[in-house]
Amino acid sequence: MRNSIGNLYFKTAIVLLLTGMAAGIAMAASGNHSIYSAHAHLNLLGFVVTSIYGGYFTMFPAKAAGPLPKAVLGLHAAGTVAMFPSLSLVLLGHEAMEPVVAVASIIVFLGAVTFAVAVFREPKGSEGINERSKQAKPETSWWPDKSHEAAMIFGFAHYQN
Ligand code: HEM
Ligand code: HEM
Repeated sequence: MRNSIGNLYFKTAIVLLLTGMAAGIAMAASGNHSIYSAHAHLNLLGFVVTSIYGGYFTMFPAKAAGPLPKAVLGLHAAGTVAMFPSLSLVLLGHEAMEPVVAVASIIVFLGAVTFAVAVFREPKGSEGINERSKQAKPETSWWPDKSHEAAMIFGFAHYQN
């Protein structure tokens, strides 16, 4: 599939949304809302942010090439997935899990830093394209190209357009 990295982001996003919603339904059904923040961040980081990252790489296919989009997805998804159970446990009173939440948050943050690099970096090869377009002859030139000039000199000018 064309630009399949975008599809990979949305596959990840929908799996995380379904998990986050299931946690929301479980909270509502049990009447115990202790893990509300783990649920909120799974939905917000897992679905909202992942979809926005994926939408960006789909909108700008030149940015979807190379290893950066996969690195962003790997870091963001790993951090978000690790955050959910560890934060849930902290919210349920298992404070020993706090360092895991901290590491997960930093991994999510590194994913965002990598995304920032992808957004600000010129796609590979685009400088070459710009140089070529600067050198290109203006399309309004009355004399089509050098091959026709050569043909005129040798006396067999056959325009075909
Ligand atoms: C089936 C879908 C969902 C259910 C049943 C559900 C259920 C809940 C419940 C029971 C709470 C705790 C409310 C409280 O105690 O204050 C909550 C909080 C929250 N949910 Fe959901 N939720 C769902 C989907 C979502 C989605 C898709 C998002 C975000 C994209 C989201 C974002 C939040 C946020 C940010 C909070 C915390 C709100 C606050 O600070 O009070 N939820 N949700
Ligand atoms: C590495 C990323 C993030 C970290 C470490 C983080 C951390 C936190 C912390 C410490 C709180 C306060 C929780 C409390 O007082 O119980 C919070 C609340 C909140 N954050 Fe984040 N956050 C992150 C990303 C985001 C993103 C990307 C969004 C939205 C797209 C978001 C939306 C919210 C909301 C709506 C609340 C209030 C509801 C709640 O307490 O869960 N956060 N966040």
